[in-house]
Order: sequence, then C-alpha cells, then structure tokens
Amino acid sequence: MKRFSTLLLALVCAFAATAQPIEVRVLDRATDQPTIAPEIYGQFSEHLGTCIYGGLWVGEDSDIPNEDGYRTDVLEALKALQIPVLRWPGGCFADEYHWRDGIGPKENRPRMVNSNWGGTIEDNSFGTHEFLNLCEKLGCEPYISGNVGSGSVEELAKWVEYMTADNGPMAEERKKNGREKPWKVKYLGVGNESWGCGGNMRPEYYSDLYRRYATYCRNFNGNRLYKVASGASDYDYNWTEVLLKQIGNRMHGLSLHYYAVKGWRGSKGSAIDFSTDEYYETLGKALEIEPVIRRHIALMDAADPERRIGLLVDEWGTWFDEEPGTVRGHLYQQNTMRDAMVAALTFHVFHRYADRITMANIAQIANVLQAMVLTRGDEMVLTPTYHAFWLYRPHQGATFVPTTCSAAERQVTKTRSIPEVSVTASRDKAGKLHLSVVNPELEKEPTIQISFDELNPKQVSGTILHAESIDAYNDFDATNRVGIKPFKGAKITKTGIELKLPAASIITLEIE
Ligand code: AHR
Repeated sequence: MKRFSTLLLALVCAFAATAQPIEVRVLDRATDQPTIAPEIYGQFSEHLGTCIYGGLWVGEDSDIPNEDGYRTDVLEALKALQIPVLRWPGGCFADEYHWRDGIGPKENRPRMVNSNWGGTIEDNSFGTHEFLNLCEKLGCEPYISGNVGSGSVEELAKWVEYMTADNGPMAEERKKNGREKPWKVKYLGVGNESWGCGGNMRPEYYSDLYRRYATYCRNFNGNRLYKVASGASDYDYNWTEVLLKQIGNRMHGLSLHYYAVKGWRGSKGSAIDFSTDEYYETLGKALEIEPVIRRHIALMDAADPERRIGLLVDEWGTWFDEEPGTVRGHLYQQNTMRDAMVAALTFHVFHRYADRITMANIAQIANVLQAMVLTRGDEMVLTPTYHAFWLYRPHQGATFVPTTCSAAERQVTKTRSIPEVSVTASRDKAGKLHLSVVNPELEKEPTIQISFDELNPKQVSGTILHAESIDAYNDFDATNRVGIKPFKGAKITKTGIELKLPAASIITLEIE
C-alpha cells in the first residue's frame, strides 16, 4: 500500500513538472461585441417558504432590526450586490396571486393559503407597495409576473394601471394607499410556466391568451412595458417554436427556465453531502444549459433575425433535496462552494450569448433553492453563491471580450463534459478589462498564461473565491468558511499575465 502511494506521488509530481500551461488568449481587438446586460445578474423572489416572509420582510413591528419592515442585514447585503432587477411574486405563486389582496391597510388584507408551496398561510402584508418600494431601496428594476392562469385580463390590466398611471381611478386608489407618484415598471411577465403550474396550457392556446392579455396591458405616462411571454422549460423546443410563430413581435422577450437538477422524480441529492462524481455531474448538468440555450436561440434567429426579441432565463440555478428537518414544500437548501461553481460557470455561458440574452434571474434571492442569503430568526449568512455574484459585478453592463482557452475537457457522464478551466472577459465603461477564470478541478492546479491581441498589461490585481473543500458552506455558527479574498498570484510577464490556479477556485482579475 505504501509502495503504491509513493509511486502515485511520484507520478503526480512527474505530471505536475511536465504539465503544459493552459493558454488563454484575449481577443481584445474584436469589435462589435455585445454588452453584457446588467440584468443577466438578476434575482428572483417568490412567495415561497421564507423567501419573502422572514427572508426579505419581517414587518415594521418586528424585533428583528428592520427598515420600514425590510430586514436591515439582508437589505445591506443585497445593496452590495448591485442587483439590476428583481422578479416577483412568482414562480408558480404568480398565477394564483390576486394583487388586490396585497394593497391597502394591512389589517384589512385577507389571509391566503399558499397552495403551491406547503399550504402556508400568508397575511398579504407584503404586496405591491412593499415590493416596488423594496426595488427602489435596492436601486433595481422591478419585474412583475402577472397572473394569467387563474386571474383575468381586467385584473392584470388594472394592476399595470395601478402601478404606473399618473391619474385616473387606479392612480387615485394608489394615492389613497400612500403612494403619490407612479412607479416605473418595465418588465411584465405574462404568466409563468403556463405549460405547467401556470395553467397546464398547450402552446397554441397560451399564445392566444398572451395576445389577449398583452393587448390590455397599456403604457401609461411614458412607462414602456417590456412584455415577456412565458417560455419553455429546458428541452421543450416546440413551445418556443409555436410561441415565435403565434406571438412573434407582440412579445419583447421570451423566457426560459433551466435548473441544474439531477431529475424531477425521486431524490435530487443532498445540497451538502455529495461525492466527487456527483459534484462533476452537477456541473455537467448546469453546463448543459449552453446547448439548450443555443437551440432556443437558433429558433429565435430563424423567426427573428433582427434580434428584436430577447431571451430571458428568468429561472435558473441548482435544485437539491430540501434540508432535513425543514418545512416540506419550502425548498430550503444549503449552498456550498459547488453552488458557487455552478453560478460562475453559468455566468460564462450567459456572457457568450449576450447578444440575445437580455436577462437571467437566479432562483432565488433568499432561503429558497440557490439562495444569496440564508436567514434564521435575526441571523443571516451570505452563501458561496452570493460571493460568486459579488465577484462578477464588474461584468454587469460591460462589453463582452471574446477569449480562447486551451484547457482540456473532462467527461463527466456519457453525454456531458465540462472544461477543466473556463474563462470570460469584458471591458467596462472606464476601459478596464476584467477577466474571470474558473478552475472546477478538485485536484489540478494548472498554470495559465494569458496573452492579448492588443493590451500590454501594466497592472493586475485579483480577487478569489475559494474554500478548504468543495462541500464547504457558511452556516449560522460559521459564517465565514467560504468568502472572498484578495488574490496576489497573478504576475505580469513578457507575453502577458501568468497565474497558478488553486484547485476549485474562482478568480476575477482587473487588468490595466
Ligand atoms: O423556483 C421554484 C419554482 O420553480 C417556481 O415557482 C416555478 O416557476 C418553477 O417550477
């Protein structure tokens, strides 16, 4: 056994000594590159489990420190992420939500059963005003998901009027409820998952409904709605094709939902207790989003070559089994360095299709699925995924810069492979180049050599997200196991920049 390990060690050392550096080329002379829409770093907040109640909102009378009812710790953490857009109120919840139940004096608001998610009773204390005011506090665009499944055309049309009209009966009612000025609401989802929880419709039928609902959602006083049709789930290309044909340019955007999930039946696996193979398989499934996006985009290119219709991946992220001991149907899961890897690698995919993808919303912002923050009573932790979003902030609204990378592929299942190193780059408005690099490998620590078409780097600084192990996570008794640190390992060479990538790490470099 000992002889075997000595031999193995010798082989590993020999491999390390002979391993070729990975070549990364930054094609920074390329012109006509798309802007990475800031909204690609969007978030999603549903009335589900403790996302809204307990996660974002505790109410003005709570003992938990709050600002106008919003928990202060979460609010501050989210402000630091520079969230561009927040989707609400669902998800499946949206198609059973009646907005009138969530306006006016709180004591008069009816209670409701959240029948999609665990039958939880909600008091509607978080409604339209509370959501839109939250967006103002966060400085982000609201994205309203309208009820097409169980609501009416009139209900949705009036909601738009209530939120955005300057005057008229709906505006008067809003003013009576304490909000003088209309809000600005750009994004409007016309239903959610209309093929499933949003009404189990056929694409032909939904297309007609879309046309009818969208007709009466008006632009008031200079507010311009960007109407989003409820799009396909992952591999349902027929749904996309029919909507493109039947709705066409009547929609501004078409959504797509894709989860990094093992399967919809049976166990989805534990969020924290997984094998090396399961780790790589999760990344393989997450990265399969790329061929899926490519096929939906090919259909869009055929129907809409001028690229007027945007693709919004308005639900994405990991989906594991609920944490043992938590409420069934609340989708509460922990979040490890594996989740951060999924997030970072997925950002790279979104960047590559930035000429068509106008938004993406991770599911979800707090306490649900691949969350940014987890809360328990008055405690809060930032997840590894939160740190991944933080690390990638410089790419928001920057111009995509193409790159090539010589890294090999690792076969993770019969049909899926992942790159051993993945790179993405962008140039911000001030002209600074940011390059993010992901090393998903658990044991390999390759050196990468970065060269440029044009740039002659004078200065480089970096930030790294890395943990002791891939299953490391932050918890209420250990809030800083996974976090961001400065990275000093990048050096300028005669040909560009060189750095050695720690195993399972995510690095963003700022290069001038
Ligand atoms: O994000 C959780 C659920 O996943 C959403 O409510 C639904 O749209 C999707 O199926």
